Amino acid sequence: MTAPLRVGVVGVGIMGADHAERLASRIAGADLVAVADADVDHASEVAARHPGVRATADAFDLIAADDVDAVLIASPGFAHEEQVLACLAHGKYTLCEKPLTTDSASALRLVEAERDKVGRPLVQVGFMRRFDPEYVELKHLIDSGRLGRLLVLHNIHRNKTSPPWFRDSSSIVNDSLVHEVDVCRWLFAEEIETITVLTPATSGRAPVGLRDPQVAIFQLAGGGMATTEVFVNSHVGYEVRCEAVAELGSATIGLGQNLLVRRDNGYGGHIPDDYRVRFARAYDIEVQDWVRACRRGTVVGPTTWDGYAATAVAEAGVASLATGRPVRVELADRAAARHLCPEQGA
Ligand SMILES: NC(=O)c1ccc[n+]([C@@H]2O[C@H](COP(=O)([O-])OP(=O)(O)OC[C@H]3O[C@@H](n4cnc5c(N)ncnc54)[C@H](O)[C@@H]3O)[C@@H](O)[C@H]2O)c1
Repeated sequence: MTAPLRVGVVGVGIMGADHAERLASRIAGADLVAVADADVDHASEVAARHPGVRATADAFDLIAADDVDAVLIASPGFAHEEQVLACLAHGKYTLCEKPLTTDSASALRLVEAERDKVGRPLVQVGFMRRFDPEYVELKHLIDSGRLGRLLVLHNIHRNKTSPPWFRDSSSIVNDSLVHEVDVCRWLFAEEIETITVLTPATSGRAPVGLRDPQVAIFQLAGGGMATTEVFVNSHVGYEVRCEAVAELGSATIGLGQNLLVRRDNGYGGHIPDDYRVRFARAYDIEVQDWVRACRRGTVVGPTTWDGYAATAVAEAGVASLATGRPVRVELADRAAARHLCPEQGA
């Protein structure tokens, strides 16, 4: 394709408006042509920021439109299945924000629909840590073998405060921990077999009903292990760190020490409020790579299978949350995703 990729964004809340802004201003080879939101006033408001972009309340109109080549879905997870199915039916390249869907059965239906209706990958899932320069460097280091065999990952994922729709403890597993689920599958290049979600003493500053923080333990298929602390009301800022422990050494990312200021007998840096700042480069690279791949007629990055597997692990995590006991992750036969290239995804 030589012409710019004409992109429509579905759902222009916090994340979708951010993606619309990058597509309109920073991404090469793409034109933002339309935005859709169930709240049409909001869609119009976002469209008005970008000359020539039209607004609609109907996501399915946008997906079907002849002047839309590719669709970025950033509506809430419950709306993803029908919208991704429509994209598949119209043969449109799709970047679907995580989660692919909110339960593993519907996520698997999308893997199978992509296989049966299209026969090749068309959908990428928005696990953007895979595009963050620090995570990419860590992945290259692990894959190079210079640290020897990867044995353990330690993840930390903290938010300043949780959004109002985090009303029960499972939201932390489904919406926050799921990022580390994908990171672990990707860095180990293996499936997670067992997940345990433990709840230490709850912070007095967590909203009522939310067990926060949580500590999760993943057992990988090859025997490796990962621990993740998720604390979504730390009241400090947005912090994501990862330490990989291997046979010959260890490596840490996310220390956020780019700018250390020393003055008045002290030193320190800045911790951003949210993910849009910490992962700004990752989102830019993710969307730029997606646009480039669509124009080449390919798909890069996390696949529908990765989206399905992450949702299946999160589902088992929610079951474990209830008892604190390990829960086995039941995955479908990988043949469900035989249309995906073996080198794609975890
Ligand atoms: N990758 C990341 O780091 C990251 C970060 C935040 C959110 N997300 C994901 O992005 C998606 C959106 O999250 P958000 O925080 O922007 O939520 P949000 O609530 O701020 O925005 C969602 C928008 O979708 C609209 N909407 C609701 N139902 C719709 C439908 N059926 N069709 C079209 N629009 C609809 C709402 O009116 C709202 O404007 C979620 O899947 C979320 O998990 C990903």
